[in-house]
Amino acid sequence: MIEKIEKIFNEEFKSLGYDITCKIISSKEKNADFQCDDLFKLAKIYHKAPITIGTEVVEKLKKHKKIFKTIECVKPGFINISVTDEFINENLRQLIKDKKLKVKPSKSTIVLDYGGPNVAKPLHVGHLRTAIIGQSINNILKFTGNKTISDVHLGDIGTQMGQVIFGILSDFPKQKAEDIQITLDYLNKTYPKISALCKENDEVRNKCLEITKELQNGNKKYKALWEKIYEISVKDIKRLYDYLDVKFDYWYGESDAYKEFEELFKFLNEKKVIEEDNGAKIINVKEESDKINIPPCIVQKSDGAYLYASSDLGTIWQRKRDFTPDNIIYITDARQSLHFTQIFRVVSKTSMYKGKLEFCGYGTVNGKDGKPFKTRSGGSFKLDDLISSVKEEFKNLRKENQKMDEKDLDIIVNAIIKYADLQNDLTRNYIFDIKKFSEVNGKTGPYILYTYLRINKLLSSNNGILSDKIYNETDRKLRLKILEVSSIINQSSKNRKPHYIASYLYDLSVLANNFYETNKMNNIEEDIRNDYDIVLTINNYILKTLLNLLGINIPKKM
Ligand code: ARG
Repeated sequence: MIEKIEKIFNEEFKSLGYDITCKIISSKEKNADFQCDDLFKLAKIYHKAPITIGTEVVEKLKKHKKIFKTIECVKPGFINISVTDEFINENLRQLIKDKKLKVKPSKSTIVLDYGGPNVAKPLHVGHLRTAIIGQSINNILKFTGNKTISDVHLGDIGTQMGQVIFGILSDFPKQKAEDIQITLDYLNKTYPKISALCKENDEVRNKCLEITKELQNGNKKYKALWEKIYEISVKDIKRLYDYLDVKFDYWYGESDAYKEFEELFKFLNEKKVIEEDNGAKIINVKEESDKINIPPCIVQKSDGAYLYASSDLGTIWQRKRDFTPDNIIYITDARQSLHFTQIFRVVSKTSMYKGKLEFCGYGTVNGKDGKPFKTRSGGSFKLDDLISSVKEEFKNLRKENQKMDEKDLDIIVNAIIKYADLQNDLTRNYIFDIKKFSEVNGKTGPYILYTYLRINKLLSSNNGILSDKIYNETDRKLRLKILEVSSIINQSSKNRKPHYIASYLYDLSVLANNFYETNKMNNIEEDIRNDYDIVLTINNYILKTLLNLLGINIPKKM
């Protein structure tokens, strides 16, 4: 609906000789549904008072009587609009007919990189954000028609692998690699143990680095151990992603990028961008306009080992060849921003990939003290711990919650965690307040789920024919909000911002609750009841569809 109004506005502006693509926004004014604030921009370009231009265009717009109930230009230069009931209802009828909620289809091929767990290390709270935000952006992009390809991009060949292999070799010095049996529990203990040891013991540290390098170069024994570690660790990673309903089309790892190095380095050499620096191979990526120092991108260490940057470049090489994507989107911690600046610059400097590279860097999850989320003893929160804490908290909120179906409980835990995460602009840090996010009141996942289930109970059958009437203010507000849905999804898809959808879900829920609390649903005329039913049905279709875009399912009961 907003887009239709914008189109008419643009046409009338143009007919008067003003060239603009204007924006129509929802109005907070009492007597207006929408407003246009663009007169000031025009005033600057055309050297006229905003109110003069506004009055001119409003005169023209008034003839669209079927659309505008009232339209006026007020000082110092705003156009206030309220639309007719018929126009609202006509738009609702069209929306109801379209499963895709009238979103603008877009047809790009987009690779999404939103996994990045490191094999042999347990998943922690940081991995949660990547997974939740990434899966949601994936769902949204798909919903708007794009072809998406997701890749977990496992960290499977970094120094942690050398460290764990070192640990295994010290614990099982005499056994052949094939005969060594290890468990997940063993892995979870070994990595932190050796990683701590490396910090204080140079000899161990160097040994681990050497193992890592030899592993990268294909050492058979190390490779055999690597496979064992991989199998156990990835099985556990999959268990957690399953719990969160996070899915990947490809389970590639950084190690897969190593297969691309021969071609990649040949290409980089041909482009003559590689320089030697104390035996290391580096690519200078400074640009004149830089305000901060951007260090060179190191693509190979002096001992021949490859690094994080090498595998990201190799991966771009592979993605370009296999998927020919229009865009590659990386969803990682914002603190990796420098790394991606370097990578993106190598790519543009060499034109090795001509699509668009995008970096969605997210903020940190903090505890109530404002510091990165930690366990009581100060360790970083494992994902399993977080999930069980949230479950406990929700169960303790009310007696009924303890009797809840286990499946429903898991759905709600997912809703609590995901909504808490996605309601903020992803670039921001946020405080994970388990108690607040578990409540059924306020801007929380459970509140929206509750609204959905409550309204579902009120629905009866309707004849599918919406009349031209609107009955009161809460009714009108709800219908107008429902009609915002297409542009919310479009914006959220275009800007890669799930929080537009999360916030909208909350606003819609508040209005839907107001609606059924102020309007009687029973003992009313059949015609009115029929209209209400149609409005609430589309309301719930939107709630459900948008919750799904955030990766949130609906429990049977709560
Ligand atoms: N494994 C990395 C880490 O834990 C994250 C990987 C992100 N994706 C990428 N293509 N670099 O820090």
